[in-house]
Amino acid sequence: MNQITITGGQTINGTIKASGAKNAVLPILAATIVGQGESHISHVPHLHDVTTMNELLAQMGAQLTVDHHADITICTDNLKNQTAPYETVKTMRASILALGPLVARYGRAKVSLPGGCQIGARPVDLHIKGLQAMGAKIDVHDGYIHAACDRLQGDRIVMEKVTVTGTENILIAATLAKGETLIENAAIEPEVVDLAKYLKAMGAEITGEGTSKIYIQGKEQLYGTHHAVMPDRIEIGTFLVAAAITGGSITINNSCNDDLDAVFAKLIEAGANLTTTADSVTLNMNGKRPLPVDIRTAPHPAFPTDMQAQFCALNAIADGASHITETLFENRFMHVEELNRMGANIHIEGNQAMIKGVKKLSGAPVTATDLRASASLVLAGLAAQGETTVHDIHYIDRGYEAIEEKLNQLGSKIIRS
Ligand code: UD1
Repeated sequence: MNQITITGGQTINGTIKASGAKNAVLPILAATIVGQGESHISHVPHLHDVTTMNELLAQMGAQLTVDHHADITICTDNLKNQTAPYETVKTMRASILALGPLVARYGRAKVSLPGGCQIGARPVDLHIKGLQAMGAKIDVHDGYIHAACDRLQGDRIVMEKVTVTGTENILIAATLAKGETLIENAAIEPEVVDLAKYLKAMGAEITGEGTSKIYIQGKEQLYGTHHAVMPDRIEIGTFLVAAAITGGSITINNSCNDDLDAVFAKLIEAGANLTTTADSVTLNMNGKRPLPVDIRTAPHPAFPTDMQAQFCALNAIADGASHITETLFENRFMHVEELNRMGANIHIEGNQAMIKGVKKLSGAPVTATDLRASASLVLAGLAAQGETTVHDIHYIDRGYEAIEEKLNQLGSKIIRS
Protein backbone atom coordinates (compact mmCIF):
# COMPACT_ATOMS: atom_id res chain seq x y z
CA MET A 1 0.00 0.00 0.00
CA ASN A 2 2.79 2.39 -0.86
CA GLN A 3 1.36 4.20 -3.84
CA ILE A 4 -1.77 6.07 -4.73
CA THR A 5 -3.34 6.57 -8.10
CA ILE A 6 -5.27 9.74 -8.78
CA THR A 7 -7.63 10.15 -11.72
CA GLY A 8 -7.26 13.88 -12.31
CA GLY A 9 -9.76 16.45 -13.45
CA GLN A 10 -12.36 16.06 -10.68
CA THR A 11 -13.38 19.25 -8.93
CA ILE A 12 -13.00 19.36 -5.14
CA ASN A 13 -16.28 20.37 -3.51
CA GLY A 14 -17.67 19.87 -0.02
CA THR A 15 -16.98 20.11 3.69
CA ILE A 16 -14.39 18.50 5.97
CA LYS A 17 -13.20 18.90 9.54
CA ALA A 18 -9.55 19.74 10.22
CA SER A 19 -7.57 17.23 12.27
CA GLY A 20 -5.34 18.02 15.25
CA ALA A 21 -1.94 19.50 14.43
CA LYS A 22 1.01 17.18 13.94
CA ASN A 23 3.50 19.85 14.96
CA ALA A 24 1.57 20.55 18.18
CA VAL A 25 0.84 16.99 19.28
CA LEU A 26 4.47 15.83 18.94
CA PRO A 27 5.98 18.37 21.41
CA ILE A 28 2.95 17.93 23.68
CA LEU A 29 3.49 14.16 23.85
CA ALA A 30 7.17 14.75 24.63
CA ALA A 31 6.14 17.26 27.30
CA THR A 32 4.06 14.64 29.11
CA ILE A 33 7.46 13.56 30.48
CA VAL A 34 7.64 16.60 32.80
CA GLY A 35 4.25 15.98 34.48
CA GLN A 36 3.52 13.61 37.34
CA GLY A 37 0.46 11.37 36.99
CA GLU A 38 -1.74 10.93 33.94
CA SER A 39 -2.28 13.30 31.04
CA HIS A 40 -5.18 12.91 28.65
CA ILE A 41 -4.52 14.33 25.17
CA SER A 42 -7.52 14.69 22.84
CA HIS A 43 -7.96 15.79 19.19
CA VAL A 44 -4.95 13.64 18.43
CA PRO A 45 -4.54 13.09 14.68
CA HIS A 46 -4.12 9.51 13.55
CA LEU A 47 -0.67 9.88 11.98
CA HIS A 48 2.39 7.76 11.54
CA ASP A 49 4.56 10.30 13.42
CA VAL A 50 2.19 10.12 16.41
CA THR A 51 2.50 6.33 16.45
CA THR A 52 6.30 6.69 16.35
CA MET A 53 6.26 9.14 19.29
CA ASN A 54 3.93 6.79 21.23
CA GLU A 55 6.29 3.88 20.55
CA LEU A 56 9.27 5.94 21.68
CA LEU A 57 7.57 6.86 24.97
CA ALA A 58 6.30 3.31 25.49
CA GLN A 59 9.75 1.77 25.04
CA MET A 60 11.07 4.18 27.68
CA GLY A 61 8.46 2.72 30.02
CA ALA A 62 5.50 5.13 29.72
CA GLN A 63 2.06 3.68 30.46
CA LEU A 64 0.04 4.61 27.41
CA THR A 65 -3.41 3.84 26.04
CA VAL A 66 -4.95 5.03 22.79
CA ASP A 67 -8.76 4.99 22.60
CA HIS A 68 -10.97 4.55 19.53
CA HIS A 69 -10.86 8.32 18.80
CA ALA A 70 -7.02 8.08 18.84
CA ASP A 71 -7.02 10.13 22.09
CA ILE A 72 -4.13 9.27 24.36
CA THR A 73 -3.92 8.70 28.10
CA ILE A 74 -0.33 8.62 29.24
CA CYS A 75 1.67 8.42 32.43
CA THR A 76 5.44 8.95 32.27
CA ASP A 77 6.21 8.36 35.97
CA ASN A 78 9.02 5.84 36.53
CA LEU A 79 10.48 5.75 33.01
CA LYS A 80 12.96 2.88 33.12
CA ASN A 81 15.22 4.26 30.42
CA GLN A 82 15.78 7.72 29.01
CA THR A 83 16.96 6.83 25.52
CA ALA A 84 15.72 7.84 22.08
CA PRO A 85 17.46 5.30 19.84
CA TYR A 86 18.86 5.91 16.37
CA GLU A 87 16.21 3.68 14.76
CA THR A 88 13.43 5.97 16.03
CA VAL A 89 15.16 9.31 15.54
CA LYS A 90 16.13 8.49 11.94
CA THR A 91 12.47 7.90 11.05
CA MET A 92 11.22 10.96 12.95
CA ARG A 93 13.45 13.94 13.69
CA ALA A 94 10.92 15.29 16.18
CA SER A 95 12.21 12.58 18.58
CA ILE A 96 14.80 15.23 19.52
CA LEU A 97 11.94 16.78 21.52
CA ALA A 98 12.49 14.09 24.17
CA LEU A 99 15.91 15.58 25.06
CA GLY A 100 14.83 18.61 27.12
CA PRO A 101 11.98 16.91 29.02
CA LEU A 102 14.11 13.85 29.93
CA VAL A 103 17.02 15.81 31.31
CA ALA A 104 14.65 18.16 33.18
CA ARG A 105 12.65 15.41 34.91
CA TYR A 106 15.07 12.49 35.07
CA GLY A 107 18.43 14.30 35.11
CA ARG A 108 19.70 12.31 32.15
CA ALA A 109 18.99 11.61 28.50
CA LYS A 110 20.56 9.76 25.61
CA VAL A 111 19.14 10.87 22.28
CA SER A 112 20.47 9.92 18.87
CA LEU A 113 21.72 12.78 16.71
CA PRO A 114 19.17 13.21 13.93
CA GLY A 115 21.70 13.93 11.17
CA GLY A 116 20.62 15.41 7.86
CA CYS A 117 17.37 14.74 6.09
CA GLN A 118 16.10 15.11 2.54
CA ILE A 119 15.16 18.78 2.90
CA GLY A 120 18.49 19.91 4.36
CA ALA A 121 21.17 19.61 7.03
CA ARG A 122 18.91 20.52 9.99
CA PRO A 123 21.42 20.65 12.86
CA VAL A 124 20.31 20.59 16.54
CA ASP A 125 23.21 22.67 17.92
CA LEU A 126 20.84 25.29 19.32
CA HIS A 127 18.89 22.70 21.32
CA ILE A 128 22.19 21.53 22.82
CA LYS A 129 23.55 25.04 23.51
CA GLY A 130 20.33 26.05 25.26
CA LEU A 131 20.39 23.07 27.59
CA GLN A 132 24.12 23.58 28.27
CA ALA A 133 23.39 27.18 29.26
CA MET A 134 20.95 25.75 31.80
CA GLY A 135 23.67 23.61 33.33
CA ALA A 136 23.26 20.30 31.49
CA LYS A 137 26.52 18.50 30.87
CA ILE A 138 26.35 17.34 27.27
CA ASP A 139 28.69 15.02 25.41
CA VAL A 140 28.17 14.04 21.83
CA HIS A 141 29.77 10.74 20.94
CA ASP A 142 28.94 7.49 19.15
CA GLY A 143 26.20 9.35 17.27
CA TYR A 144 24.34 10.15 20.47
CA ILE A 145 23.73 13.24 22.59
CA HIS A 146 24.41 12.25 26.23
CA ALA A 147 22.97 14.80 28.66
CA ALA A 148 23.10 14.84 32.45
CA CYS A 149 22.27 17.32 35.19
CA ASP A 150 21.13 17.30 38.86
CA ARG A 151 18.62 20.08 38.31
CA LEU A 152 18.59 22.51 35.41
CA GLN A 153 19.15 26.15 36.30
CA GLY A 154 17.12 28.92 34.66
CA ASP A 155 19.10 31.31 32.45
CA ARG A 156 18.79 33.89 29.67
CA ILE A 157 19.01 32.00 26.39
CA VAL A 158 19.35 33.90 23.15
CA MET A 159 18.56 31.63 20.20
CA GLU A 160 20.94 32.44 17.33
CA LYS A 161 18.24 31.43 14.83
CA VAL A 162 14.51 31.08 15.19
CA THR A 163 13.98 27.36 15.70
CA VAL A 164 10.60 25.82 16.42
CA THR A 165 11.56 22.51 18.06
CA GLY A 166 14.63 24.19 19.61
CA THR A 167 12.37 26.71 21.36
CA GLU A 168 10.02 23.88 22.40
CA ASN A 169 12.83 21.75 23.86
CA ILE A 170 14.14 24.64 26.00
CA LEU A 171 10.63 25.76 26.97
CA ILE A 172 9.65 22.31 28.26
CA ALA A 173 12.97 21.86 30.08
CA ALA A 174 12.72 25.29 31.73
CA THR A 175 9.38 24.49 33.37
CA LEU A 176 11.22 22.25 35.89
CA ALA A 177 14.43 24.31 36.15
CA LYS A 178 15.44 26.24 39.25
CA GLY A 179 14.58 29.94 38.85
CA GLU A 180 13.65 31.94 35.79
CA THR A 181 14.47 31.24 32.16
CA LEU A 182 14.16 33.82 29.41
CA ILE A 183 14.16 32.53 25.83
CA GLU A 184 15.01 35.37 23.44
CA ASN A 185 14.44 35.17 19.69
CA ALA A 186 11.96 32.38 20.47
CA ALA A 187 9.81 30.86 17.73
CA ILE A 188 6.32 32.38 17.77
CA GLU A 189 4.61 29.57 15.83
CA PRO A 190 1.06 28.76 17.02
CA GLU A 191 2.21 25.23 17.94
CA VAL A 192 4.65 26.72 20.50
CA VAL A 193 1.67 28.56 22.00
CA ASP A 194 -0.39 25.36 22.12
CA LEU A 195 2.48 23.58 23.88
CA ALA A 196 2.71 26.43 26.42
CA LYS A 197 -1.05 26.13 27.00
CA TYR A 198 -0.63 22.45 27.90
CA LEU A 199 2.38 23.15 30.14
CA LYS A 200 0.46 25.92 31.94
CA ALA A 201 -2.46 23.56 32.50
CA MET A 202 0.09 21.21 34.13
CA GLY A 203 1.03 24.03 36.53
CA ALA A 204 3.90 25.71 34.68
CA GLU A 205 4.39 29.49 34.96
CA ILE A 206 4.97 30.87 31.47
CA THR A 207 4.46 34.32 29.97
CA GLY A 208 5.26 35.76 26.55
CA GLU A 209 4.53 32.66 24.47
CA GLY A 210 3.58 33.74 20.95
CA THR A 211 6.18 36.56 21.18
CA SER A 212 9.94 36.38 20.69
CA LYS A 213 10.56 36.56 24.48
CA ILE A 214 9.25 33.71 26.60
CA TYR A 215 9.65 33.87 30.39
CA ILE A 216 9.43 30.66 32.40
CA GLN A 217 9.45 30.48 36.18
CA GLY A 218 10.57 26.93 36.98
CA LYS A 219 8.51 24.73 39.32
CA GLU A 220 9.48 21.81 41.56
CA GLN A 221 6.73 19.65 40.07
CA LEU A 222 4.10 19.66 37.34
CA TYR A 223 1.02 17.45 37.12
CA GLY A 224 -0.64 15.56 34.27
CA THR A 225 -3.78 17.18 32.88
CA HIS A 226 -6.18 17.24 29.92
CA HIS A 227 -5.35 19.06 26.70
CA ALA A 228 -7.13 19.26 23.33
CA VAL A 229 -4.65 19.69 20.47
CA MET A 230 -5.08 22.74 18.18
CA PRO A 231 -6.14 22.27 14.53
CA ASP A 232 -3.52 21.59 11.87
CA ARG A 233 -3.00 24.83 9.93
CA ILE A 234 -0.89 23.05 7.30
CA GLU A 235 -3.56 20.42 6.67
CA ILE A 236 -6.12 23.24 6.35
CA GLY A 237 -3.88 25.13 3.91
CA THR A 238 -3.30 21.99 1.85
CA PHE A 239 -7.03 21.27 1.46
CA LEU A 240 -7.70 24.91 0.54
CA VAL A 241 -5.11 24.55 -2.23
CA ALA A 242 -6.81 21.30 -3.33
CA ALA A 243 -10.03 23.24 -3.93
CA ALA A 244 -8.20 26.18 -5.52
CA ILE A 245 -6.14 24.03 -7.91
CA THR A 246 -9.28 22.24 -9.19
CA GLY A 247 -11.45 25.38 -9.46
CA GLY A 248 -13.71 24.02 -6.70
CA SER A 249 -15.05 25.08 -3.33
CA ILE A 250 -14.50 23.80 0.19
CA THR A 251 -15.57 24.52 3.75
CA ILE A 252 -13.20 23.43 6.51
CA ASN A 253 -14.59 23.25 10.02
CA ASN A 254 -12.43 23.40 13.15
CA SER A 255 -10.16 25.91 11.41
CA CYS A 256 -7.69 28.19 13.24
CA ASN A 257 -8.10 31.17 10.93
CA ASP A 258 -5.95 33.59 12.93
CA ASP A 259 -2.94 31.35 12.34
CA LEU A 260 -3.41 31.28 8.57
CA ASP A 261 -3.19 34.97 7.55
CA ALA A 262 -0.22 34.57 5.19
CA VAL A 263 -1.72 31.52 3.45
CA PHE A 264 -5.17 33.14 3.14
CA ALA A 265 -3.60 36.30 1.66
CA LYS A 266 -1.87 34.25 -1.07
CA LEU A 267 -5.03 32.29 -1.87
CA ILE A 268 -6.98 35.53 -2.28
CA GLU A 269 -4.17 36.88 -4.49
CA ALA A 270 -4.52 33.67 -6.54
CA GLY A 271 -8.16 34.59 -7.21
CA ALA A 272 -9.99 32.61 -4.51
CA ASN A 273 -13.01 33.96 -2.70
CA LEU A 274 -12.51 33.35 1.03
CA THR A 275 -15.00 33.74 3.84
CA THR A 276 -14.55 32.83 7.48
CA THR A 277 -16.58 32.30 10.64
CA ALA A 278 -15.11 31.97 14.13
CA ASP A 279 -13.98 28.39 13.46
CA SER A 280 -14.48 27.66 9.78
CA VAL A 281 -13.17 28.82 6.43
CA THR A 282 -14.81 28.56 3.01
CA LEU A 283 -12.90 28.91 -0.24
CA ASN A 284 -14.61 29.25 -3.60
CA MET A 285 -12.60 29.34 -6.81
CA ASN A 286 -15.70 29.56 -9.02
CA GLY A 287 -14.13 27.36 -11.71
CA LYS A 288 -11.36 29.87 -12.40
CA ARG A 289 -7.73 29.10 -13.22
CA PRO A 290 -5.48 30.40 -10.41
CA LEU A 291 -3.42 33.55 -10.80
CA PRO A 292 0.33 33.23 -10.11
CA VAL A 293 1.54 34.27 -6.64
CA ASP A 294 5.08 35.05 -5.49
CA ILE A 295 6.03 33.33 -2.23
CA ARG A 296 8.87 33.83 0.24
CA THR A 297 8.97 31.40 3.15
CA ALA A 298 10.02 32.61 6.61
CA PRO A 299 9.19 31.91 10.27
CA HIS A 300 5.64 32.66 11.50
CA PRO A 301 3.70 34.88 10.87
CA ALA A 302 5.23 34.96 7.37
CA PHE A 303 4.46 32.31 4.77
CA PRO A 304 5.20 28.81 6.20
CA THR A 305 7.82 26.62 4.53
CA ASP A 306 5.48 23.69 5.14
CA MET A 307 3.07 25.20 2.53
CA GLN A 308 5.75 25.98 -0.08
CA ALA A 309 5.49 22.72 -2.06
CA GLN A 310 1.69 22.93 -2.27
CA PHE A 311 1.88 26.48 -3.71
CA CYS A 312 4.49 25.25 -6.20
CA ALA A 313 1.80 22.91 -7.55
CA LEU A 314 -0.78 25.73 -7.61
CA ASN A 315 1.59 28.09 -9.42
CA ALA A 316 2.47 25.31 -11.88
CA ILE A 317 -0.98 25.64 -13.48
CA ALA A 318 -1.47 29.38 -12.82
CA ASP A 319 -2.14 31.90 -15.55
CA GLY A 320 1.32 33.51 -15.63
CA ALA A 321 4.79 33.42 -14.07
CA SER A 322 5.81 33.39 -10.40
CA HIS A 323 8.81 33.08 -8.07
CA ILE A 324 9.07 31.01 -4.93
CA THR A 325 11.94 31.69 -2.51
CA GLU A 326 12.69 29.10 0.18
CA THR A 327 14.65 30.70 3.04
CA LEU A 328 14.49 27.98 5.73
CA PHE A 329 15.70 24.74 4.23
CA GLU A 330 18.40 24.42 1.58
CA ASN A 331 17.02 21.45 -0.31
CA ARG A 332 13.27 21.78 -0.22
CA PHE A 333 12.50 21.76 -3.94
CA MET A 334 12.63 18.03 -4.61
CA HIS A 335 9.01 18.03 -5.73
CA VAL A 336 9.96 20.32 -8.63
CA GLU A 337 11.59 17.67 -10.82
CA GLU A 338 8.55 15.46 -10.31
CA LEU A 339 6.14 18.32 -11.14
CA ASN A 340 8.17 18.95 -14.29
CA ARG A 341 7.65 15.30 -15.25
CA MET A 342 3.93 16.09 -15.16
CA GLY A 343 4.44 18.94 -17.65
CA ALA A 344 5.16 21.81 -15.27
CA ASN A 345 7.66 24.46 -16.33
CA ILE A 346 9.73 25.17 -13.23
CA HIS A 347 13.36 26.15 -13.14
CA ILE A 348 15.42 26.15 -9.92
CA GLU A 349 18.21 28.65 -9.24
CA GLY A 350 19.69 28.39 -5.77
CA ASN A 351 16.87 28.82 -3.28
CA GLN A 352 14.43 30.13 -5.89
CA ALA A 353 11.93 28.39 -8.13
CA MET A 354 10.94 30.26 -11.28
CA ILE A 355 7.59 28.99 -12.43
CA LYS A 356 5.87 29.55 -15.77
CA GLY A 357 2.29 28.42 -15.37
CA VAL A 358 1.04 25.86 -17.91
CA LYS A 359 -2.62 25.38 -18.84
CA LYS A 360 -2.70 21.70 -17.96
CA LEU A 361 -0.51 19.17 -16.22
CA SER A 362 -0.62 15.60 -17.44
CA GLY A 363 -0.78 12.52 -15.24
CA ALA A 364 2.49 10.60 -14.78
CA PRO A 365 4.18 8.20 -12.38
CA VAL A 366 6.01 10.31 -9.77
CA THR A 367 7.84 9.66 -6.51
CA ALA A 368 7.36 11.40 -3.17
CA THR A 369 10.55 12.44 -1.37
CA ASP A 370 9.24 14.00 1.84
CA LEU A 371 6.00 14.85 3.59
CA ARG A 372 5.06 18.16 1.97
CA ALA A 373 6.52 17.14 -1.41
CA SER A 374 4.11 14.22 -1.38
CA ALA A 375 1.20 16.60 -0.72
CA SER A 376 2.28 18.77 -3.63
CA LEU A 377 2.30 15.76 -6.00
CA VAL A 378 -1.18 14.70 -4.87
CA LEU A 379 -2.45 18.24 -5.49
CA ALA A 380 -0.85 18.27 -8.95
CA GLY A 381 -2.43 14.88 -9.64
CA LEU A 382 -5.88 16.27 -8.78
CA ALA A 383 -5.48 19.00 -11.37
CA ALA A 384 -3.74 16.89 -14.04
CA GLN A 385 -5.31 15.25 -17.06
CA GLY A 386 -5.24 11.48 -16.78
CA GLU A 387 -3.77 9.23 -14.12
CA THR A 388 -1.00 10.11 -11.69
CA THR A 389 0.58 7.43 -9.54
CA VAL A 390 2.50 8.76 -6.56
CA HIS A 391 5.08 6.23 -5.34
CA ASP A 392 6.55 6.19 -1.80
CA ILE A 393 3.32 7.72 -0.56
CA HIS A 394 4.10 6.60 3.02
CA TYR A 395 5.57 10.08 3.62
CA ILE A 396 2.09 11.55 3.44
CA ASP A 397 0.84 9.37 6.31
CA ARG A 398 3.36 11.08 8.61
CA GLY A 399 1.41 14.32 8.45
CA TYR A 400 -2.04 13.92 6.86
CA GLU A 401 -4.78 11.98 8.60
CA ALA A 402 -6.79 9.82 6.18
CA ILE A 403 -5.84 12.00 3.22
CA GLU A 404 -7.37 9.92 0.47
CA GLU A 405 -10.60 9.33 2.43
CA LYS A 406 -10.97 13.06 2.99
CA LEU A 407 -10.21 13.94 -0.65
CA ASN A 408 -12.52 11.22 -1.98
CA GLN A 409 -15.27 12.54 0.26
CA LEU A 410 -14.73 15.85 -1.56
CA GLY A 411 -15.09 14.31 -5.03
CA SER A 412 -11.60 13.18 -5.99
CA LYS A 413 -10.85 9.71 -7.38
CA ILE A 414 -7.93 8.27 -5.46
CA ILE A 415 -7.10 4.67 -4.74
CA ARG A 416 -4.23 3.28 -2.70
CA SER A 417 -2.52 0.06 -3.72
C1 UD1 B 1 9.73 22.60 12.60
C2 UD1 B 1 8.56 21.82 12.07
C3 UD1 B 1 8.66 21.68 10.56
C4 UD1 B 1 8.83 23.06 9.91
C5 UD1 B 1 9.96 23.85 10.56
C6 UD1 B 1 10.05 25.29 10.08
C7 UD1 B 1 7.99 20.33 13.92
C8 UD1 B 1 7.96 18.95 14.45
N1 UD1 B 1 8.55 20.50 12.68
O1 UD1 B 1 10.92 21.86 12.31
O2 UD1 B 1 7.47 21.06 10.08
O3 UD1 B 1 9.12 22.91 8.53
O4 UD1 B 1 9.78 23.88 12.01
O5 UD1 B 1 8.85 25.95 10.31
O6 UD1 B 1 7.49 21.26 14.53
N2 UD1 B 1 18.49 25.23 12.92
C9 UD1 B 1 19.81 25.28 13.29
N3 UD1 B 1 20.18 24.77 14.51
C10 UD1 B 1 19.28 24.19 15.36
C11 UD1 B 1 17.93 24.13 14.97
C12 UD1 B 1 17.55 24.65 13.74
O7 UD1 B 1 20.64 25.80 12.55
O8 UD1 B 1 19.68 23.74 16.44
C13 UD1 B 1 18.06 25.76 11.60
C14 UD1 B 1 17.50 24.69 10.65
O9 UD1 B 1 18.51 24.03 9.95
C15 UD1 B 1 16.59 25.51 9.75
C16 UD1 B 1 16.07 26.60 10.70
O10 UD1 B 1 16.97 26.63 11.82
O11 UD1 B 1 17.32 26.13 8.73
C17 UD1 B 1 14.67 26.40 11.19
O12 UD1 B 1 14.51 25.07 11.62
P1 UD1 B 1 13.58 24.67 12.84
O13 UD1 B 1 12.60 25.76 13.13
O14 UD1 B 1 14.43 24.19 13.96
O15 UD1 B 1 12.79 23.43 12.25
P2 UD1 B 1 12.28 22.20 13.07
O16 UD1 B 1 11.97 22.65 14.45
O17 UD1 B 1 13.18 21.05 12.87
